[in-house]
Amino acid sequence: MKIKKAVFPVAGLGTRFIPATKAMAKEMLPVVDKPLIQYAVEEAFEAGIEQIIFVTGRGKKALEDHFDRSFEIERTLKAKGKNDLLKQIQELVPRTGTIIYTRQNEPLGLGHAIWCARDIVGDEPFAVLLADDLIKTDKPVLSEMVKKFDRMRASMVAVMEVDKEQTDKYGIINAQDVEEDIVRIDDMIEKPDPSEAPSNLAIIGRYILTPKIFDYLGRKQKGAGGEIQLTDAMKSLLKEQPIYGYKFHGTRFDCGDKAGFQMANLAFALERPDLRDKLLDFIKTL
Ligand code: G1P
Repeated sequence: MKIKKAVFPVAGLGTRFIPATKAMAKEMLPVVDKPLIQYAVEEAFEAGIEQIIFVTGRGKKALEDHFDRSFEIERTLKAKGKNDLLKQIQELVPRTGTIIYTRQNEPLGLGHAIWCARDIVGDEPFAVLLADDLIKTDKPVLSEMVKKFDRMRASMVAVMEVDKEQTDKYGIINAQDVEEDIVRIDDMIEKPDPSEAPSNLAIIGRYILTPKIFDYLGRKQKGAGGEIQLTDAMKSLLKEQPIYGYKFHGTRFDCGDKAGFQMANLAFALERPDLRDKLLDFIKTL
């Protein structure tokens, strides 16, 4: 079965970026000139996703507007002959009906946010993308995972090695190598203290999940931080179905963190021919 739907949990308050996020969705923070959410949505479409499901909350209207037409801007750009920009903003609007919005009306955690999409996802495997995890790579991570899913027909998460002292920021897996870049997961734990972490292989925000996960999410058991954790539901799913880890190639930026977000801006800006030299000259002066 083809992966057609992708869930984007975007209800978080973005408290780490206050005051920037006081009145603005954190997913709208730009890396260079594109909001974080757009990178993730583009990655999903590139992987063949046909339907985007945003699990939103209060104060996220800008997300809806971003993926909708803006006649005012279009008219102005047309009048000024700025056709490149006009094309860009027109192309960013998906066909009507491609994006579905639902709400997470209580901040009960990532697992709960995904559960909120259960009726829209229905009985088919689906993807989850966390827009905070921005990955710079030649091989877009979700596309690679979809290809591997086509062959392996099992749930899969993106994983990477992190510093041993950082395990309490991630879902951490214990796994065995099965083939190049793929491990089979035997256990996982959300945000373990470094002294309890089974490894330093961390889950990064790209998932392909079978609909069976909703049975476990529906139990609404609270885990790390008192939240309903996706990792805990996957750990339970492991007793019934295999879950694989995909060791992606590339650099992951934690854009939910101020330093990670600035690094992402720098790395993506340095790739841009129109910005690179100016930035490098400036950096030399620092
Ligand atoms: C979430 C997941 C965690 C994962 C991380 C990746 O945590 O719960 O398992 O490792 O995303 O970014 P959060 O960053 O939302 O606390």
